[in-house]
Amino acid sequence: MSRFADPQDPRFRAINTSIGFDYRLAPHDLDQSTAHARMLARVGILSDDELAQLERGLEEVRAEIADGRFVVKDDDEDIHMAVERRLTEIVGPVGGKLHTARSRNDQVATDVALFVHERAHVARQMLCQLMTLLADRAEEHVDWSMPGYTHLQRAQPVYLSHHLMAHFWRLRRDAQRFEFCAHQAQVMPLGSGALAGVNFETDRDGIAEELGFTSVAPNSLDAVSNRDFVLDYLSAAAICGTHLSQLGAELVLWSSEEFGFVELPDAFASGSSIMPQKKNPDAAELLRGKAPRIVGHLTALHGVLHALPLAYNKDLQEDKEHLFDTVDTLELALNAASGMVDGARFHRERLSQAASDEMLAATDVADLLVKRGMPFRQAHGVVAGLVRHSIDRGVALSDLSEDELAELAPSLDAGYYEVLAQSSWLESKVSAGGTGLERVREQLVLAREILQQQSTLTR
Ligand code: ARG
Repeated sequence: MSRFADPQDPRFRAINTSIGFDYRLAPHDLDQSTAHARMLARVGILSDDELAQLERGLEEVRAEIADGRFVVKDDDEDIHMAVERRLTEIVGPVGGKLHTARSRNDQVATDVALFVHERAHVARQMLCQLMTLLADRAEEHVDWSMPGYTHLQRAQPVYLSHHLMAHFWRLRRDAQRFEFCAHQAQVMPLGSGALAGVNFETDRDGIAEELGFTSVAPNSLDAVSNRDFVLDYLSAAAICGTHLSQLGAELVLWSSEEFGFVELPDAFASGSSIMPQKKNPDAAELLRGKAPRIVGHLTALHGVLHALPLAYNKDLQEDKEHLFDTVDTLELALNAASGMVDGARFHRERLSQAASDEMLAATDVADLLVKRGMPFRQAHGVVAGLVRHSIDRGVALSDLSEDELAELAPSLDAGYYEVLAQSSWLESKVSAGGTGLERVREQLVLAREILQQQSTLTR
């Protein structure tokens, strides 16, 4: 019997169905159903024999899905109904007992939580891989000088290692965000029923333990409607995507003829269909280009959840495509970033040539005046005058004569010429977190400790 007098309109089916995308949750749905069936047997709702039949049937469904033999039927609205329908075909009417003390509302929330937990862990592993490569490359190029930029204008020289490690620390924060997200997805919704709980004394803690959750949701209304852990994943992914776009953008610039700081691996570049000389940094460009789509998914899910009344609403079905595309996009981007960082070859000459512009020492000259007692603001003005004068004369700062100095900056002494010797510019940055070599080495030690801790995390 059905409550409905009329069959579903195909147009209703078309908008209502989710099997086309939630099929991907099948492994988690099967894990969950198996744990649920065991719990039902533990509390005496199913007999041992019924449990054995259900376990056998669920294993058979799992095998069919794993090797692509599973056939989706027209009536399979979503993965949960498809699994139950096939299970019942295999084991007979006992299959219908699986849904005792469970609703699709707590079921789907549980599947999504399991999925998010798994992918947050994968994101952390991939981030660790990329961070390790950045630290490796930083160590290999620890004392290579290059210009540091503000406004994309040469500002002060830094070590390439320092620059690479800047990306490391951004990604480190991303890894922490995914850790938080994994944590949020470890509260089990299952056992909340449709919205109010179920009419049986169930053993939620036992299922939670079997599925790897650390606790059970304390409020059934919240449990079936909570998608915060999806927002957490999308937020972490959006920020991480932004970071990867920034890394990608630099690789695009640096690999251009104009900069010539880096050569990307051939395996991560494409040619042009018309210009034979071209080597295009496509993957780095796509790190830029793909990032906003994750932000779009995050924005969309905020829209879906906005002002939604408690508890389950079908709107929530819209969480999945945003989540799945984000996972796919982020994992693609992280892998490609690792490949490029791993294979990048830096050009020492070009980097140090660009960093040897004496103008980059202007702040150091001002600081010299400060050390001789002049207020920094005034020193800034004096050095600006020197810079202007040397540009007007078309000579380098170090080519200014002592007479010129005496006239333009009477408080400057011969220390001026020493400060302009390139080697001192970087090593004078002795402050904690600065680019001085000792400080970079400190960062690297800290980075290795963090990576070591991360590698011991299993989930
Ligand atoms: N496919 C649904 C979803 O993804 C499963 C839950 C259906 N629940 C319901 N009350 N119709 O949200």
